[in-house]
Amino acid sequence: MKKLLEQIGEEMVKAFETAGYEPSYAKVTVSNRPDLCEFQCNGAMAAAKQYRKAPIQIAAAVVEALEKGGVIGEAEAVNPGFINLKVNPEALSSYLNEMQKDKDLSVEKAKEPKTIIVDYGGANAAKPLHVGHLRSAIIGESIKRMGRFMGHHVIGDVHLGDWGLQMGLIITELHERKPELPYFDERYTGEYPQEAPFTISELEEIYPAASARSKEDEEYKERALTATFELQQGRRGYRALWKHIMNVSVADLKKNYTNLNVEFDLWKGESDVQDIIPKMADAMKEEGYAYYDQGALIVDIKEESDTKEIPPCIILKSDGAALYTTTDLATIMDRMEKYHPDEMIYLADKRQELHFTQVFRCARKTKLVNEDTRLSFIGFGTMNGKDGKPFKTRDGGVMRLERLISDINEEMFRKIVENRSVKDKEAEGTAKIVGLSALKYGDLSNQASKDYVFDIDRFTSFEGNTGPYILYTIVRIKSILGRYAQEGGTLEKGVMLAPVSESEKSLMLSTAAFNGMMEGAFEEKAPHKICAYVYELANQFNHFYHETKILSEEDEGRKASYLALLDLVREVLETSIDVLGFDAPERM
Ligand code: ARG
Repeated sequence: MKKLLEQIGEEMVKAFETAGYEPSYAKVTVSNRPDLCEFQCNGAMAAAKQYRKAPIQIAAAVVEALEKGGVIGEAEAVNPGFINLKVNPEALSSYLNEMQKDKDLSVEKAKEPKTIIVDYGGANAAKPLHVGHLRSAIIGESIKRMGRFMGHHVIGDVHLGDWGLQMGLIITELHERKPELPYFDERYTGEYPQEAPFTISELEEIYPAASARSKEDEEYKERALTATFELQQGRRGYRALWKHIMNVSVADLKKNYTNLNVEFDLWKGESDVQDIIPKMADAMKEEGYAYYDQGALIVDIKEESDTKEIPPCIILKSDGAALYTTTDLATIMDRMEKYHPDEMIYLADKRQELHFTQVFRCARKTKLVNEDTRLSFIGFGTMNGKDGKPFKTRDGGVMRLERLISDINEEMFRKIVENRSVKDKEAEGTAKIVGLSALKYGDLSNQASKDYVFDIDRFTSFEGNTGPYILYTIVRIKSILGRYAQEGGTLEKGVMLAPVSESEKSLMLSTAAFNGMMEGAFEEKAPHKICAYVYELANQFNHFYHETKILSEEDEGRKASYLALLDLVREVLETSIDVLGFDAPERM
């Protein structure tokens, strides 16, 4: 269905034409003075120059020319030449009645659905998931869901870091600890054990130990580098160990991501494209894009308009080794062959911006992608502690995601029990659901590129711009609807009538803005716009709720109308938070 704003715009276009002015001046926006009007048109101000008339004269003529009985209910020309608009209450309620019947809530789905790959998560196998990967998972999941909601075919790929030095380090440390294992015996030709020689907790202890030792012990580091190289060359025992490392850590990652309500379609990683790197490098050479410079194979990607130095893209180092860039390029090649995406969206720390600039330019120049394939990088800021420095544990260590989640859930549990509205038995489950909203909303409500302060106390509060406040509002609506049902009422045929109060009209206007908001948020890949919207809608609802007798309303038609509106607001809120990646409980 056409957006309300569009419908208003069309009526203004007609009025401009009837009054003899160019329709291009008829642009309508949401009012920035909600105390005066709901929408506004400043076109008369702009038209004044061309027509050599006072803007107020033009504005008055346009207002005069407006047809009555449409979506615009009131129009007023005010000095020096603004046109203030208010929506016709009848038209507003019929708009919402249409919206209520539409399973897509009046959002127009993509007419030509695109195939979009979202590359997010980006965890590194064998290293514990830490808060740095949290933002990627949370924001990426929401962008994936937005795309799907808009009707596109979106594929999420976790793109694991599973091929680098961390593997060589683990192999080396295991060799130190358990030299008797068959994986290290080069003469061994038998089958390797099915069972991994470590658990996830051991693995997570092994990596930091190995990493620390390699920083102090040159010889140890050399061995780790050799092990990495041999693994990549295909040494049998190391490949078998690598498989164990992968199985154990992927199982653990899946558990962690599931707890975050984050789900990937593809569990691919850097290792998956190693075999196609030689083919890609050869093609780049043959086609004349890549050349050798001091032993390394490089592609120039400088552009004339560059204001800062963009270094060439290194495809292979002088020892023949592939780099992070190489893997990303080969992955692009692989994705183009397998999925023919129209767009690839990457999420990573904004400090990786140069890396992605290099990868994208190189992919374009070497024609790994089509001319119209979109490549975009969404770089996010750091999650900081209250001290403004990257988030750490109390004793200064790297904060593990599991710890962070359990800290939030504990605090949430404490607050819920304090509220004492739920029996203890339920409180723990509820704390998990609400805790996830606190964590995700706390992140998503900030513009992705900005750093933000992780503040458990604020994030878990039931008041203010927080996840728990949004859920609390949804639960409040559900409880009113539940009470109505208990009294024997039914929401089946609820028809919304024209609003009778300011607060009801504001709530209706915000509800009607859902389709435009969703479209804009996806266009800009901006989950924070959805957050800002649900916050405003929740505020509008609570304001309306405090001013209005709903269940005790005596006029049955009016009561049914209120309840239909409540149910629609609930649906809009629940749809929005689903796109953000969390849910509301039944009670709180
Ligand atoms: N594993 C990387 C890291 O931890 C993030 C991967 C981002 N995605 C990509 N295609 N490079 O920094």
